[in-house]
Amino acid sequence: MKNNQPDIIAFCCHYCAFTAADLAGTMRLQYPANIRIVRLPCTGRVDANMILQAFVEGADGVMVAGCEEGSCHFILGNLRALKRVTYAKKLLTEAGVNSERLEMYHIAASQGPLFAQKSKEFTERIANIMSGSANK
Ligand code: FES
Repeated sequence: MKNNQPDIIAFCCHYCAFTAADLAGTMRLQYPANIRIVRLPCTGRVDANMILQAFVEGADGVMVAGCEEGSCHFILGNLRALKRVTYAKKLLTEAGVNSERLEMYHIAASQGPLFAQKSKEFTERIANIMSGSANK
């Protein structure tokens, strides 16, 4: 956490959430600058190790943002990612880390405003957790 802004890693699918983030920028919508986007060909590439490694390397929160259900270009990638996020949440809880610091979103390429909104909401959630008002 730097300058009272949480460090957030967002694993984004190239086809949807990354494009939505790009659209948000094109639309001049503001979303927190503390979000570092890692572009992936599909969220199906995300596994629990990648998520946990992000936390080990200092992330305060991790977002996984993929295509809407039924729209994954690799058919089941986003559903596999959801299962892995659920599993990683369980591991975080077992390690004594607040599992709310990890979240999966489904955002279509055309939903730039939704990407900006979810980014703001997640940043606020992580800031609250890290400020100590909730279990870290
Ligand atoms: Fe977007 Fe699979 S191609 S989540």
